[in-house]
Amino acid sequence: MNQKFSPAFLISITRICSSRARAQLFFRAPIIALLVFFALPAQASPAAARKVIIDTDPGTDDAIAILLAVNSPELDVRALTVVPGNVTAQQGLENALKLASLANRCDIAVAGGAQHPLFQKLITAEFWHGKNGLANVELPASKCKADARFAPDLIIQMVHAAPHEITLVPIGPETNIALAVLKDPSIVPLVKEVIVMGGSISGGNVNAAAEANIYNDPEAAQIVFQAGWPLTMVGLDVGNATLFTRRHVEQLAKSHGPESDFLVAVLSFLVTLSEKYGYAGAPMYDPLAVGAAIDSTIVKAQAMHVDVETRGDFSRGETVANRTNEVERNVLHGERYIIEGLDKVQPNVEVCTGVDSERFMQLLIGRVQGK
Ligand code: BDR
Ligand code: CA
Repeated sequence: MNQKFSPAFLISITRICSSRARAQLFFRAPIIALLVFFALPAQASPAAARKVIIDTDPGTDDAIAILLAVNSPELDVRALTVVPGNVTAQQGLENALKLASLANRCDIAVAGGAQHPLFQKLITAEFWHGKNGLANVELPASKCKADARFAPDLIIQMVHAAPHEITLVPIGPETNIALAVLKDPSIVPLVKEVIVMGGSISGGNVNAAAEANIYNDPEAAQIVFQAGWPLTMVGLDVGNATLFTRRHVEQLAKSHGPESDFLVAVLSFLVTLSEKYGYAGAPMYDPLAVGAAIDSTIVKAQAMHVDVETRGDFSRGETVANRTNEVERNVLHGERYIIEGLDKVQPNVEVCTGVDSERFMQLLIGRVQGK
């Protein structure tokens, strides 16, 4: 347990005090107060927790990510903003509300946002996520109500209300985040960090080049990647190495509760689907982005300059990463260019290139077990 003094220890201290002369309590009270004072900061208090807004298209792995986040004391989830992607905007909002309700967290603002990508038609992924986006598991109707604000406006307001404190965790297409930046660029220096699930420097999952979240709104992703804020890319390079296997499902299924029972059903669906397509397990794309927000040491990252391809015939939506952060300088001499040296390019993204996958799995399972 991540505490200097366990609750049992503090209770036994109190018992010792009450079994002795009551008069002594007067003298011991300051000592007990000191012990409590030093014990408390070791638990992640809400004040110390990282304030996050999760922008999501829920979505099976989004659902796992959200439940991981709300069960992690390191995070203070302020809002779930919904973007269309895996499912339509309407279905996504319904799913987000049901997830907040399942976790008994109606205090979290849940808001709908964009209805479609900036410049292209929406592509939904019920094929991978089930008809309702949640592995066809029917959750009870939500007790929580949607926030009336438009998601990009909510993001803008929350960032201004807590300058330099909010971490954005976009785990769907980047449409809402891009709209927020376009409407109010002054939020950029006020955001603490952006941890994006999206992109790849080793091939795509929708086609040879592109990862789904970026492919579903490349122009929005390019706006977000070039905004100038600290941005970590948790892409396929690490997501594909973070497989939830049948062994993990069996481990999770050992304890029961509304949240863990739901997750066992969702993860069984995902593992079965992955096995059908020849994989050993289901990639934990979105949960890993939340994992990186909880504990950045789970992933290893390298600073690179990354652009999002918005045109190419075969590469629209690809995250094109410069691993050396250098480009050749070509100078025109008459009829031809001659390379005259190398120019530096500024890295804009911490690209995750390594992951401690099993440590992450045990964090995920541990956090949702018994819920
Ligand atoms: C991403 O695409 C979606 O299907 C998942 O929820 C994840 O955010 C992975 O490419
Ligand atoms: Ca997602």
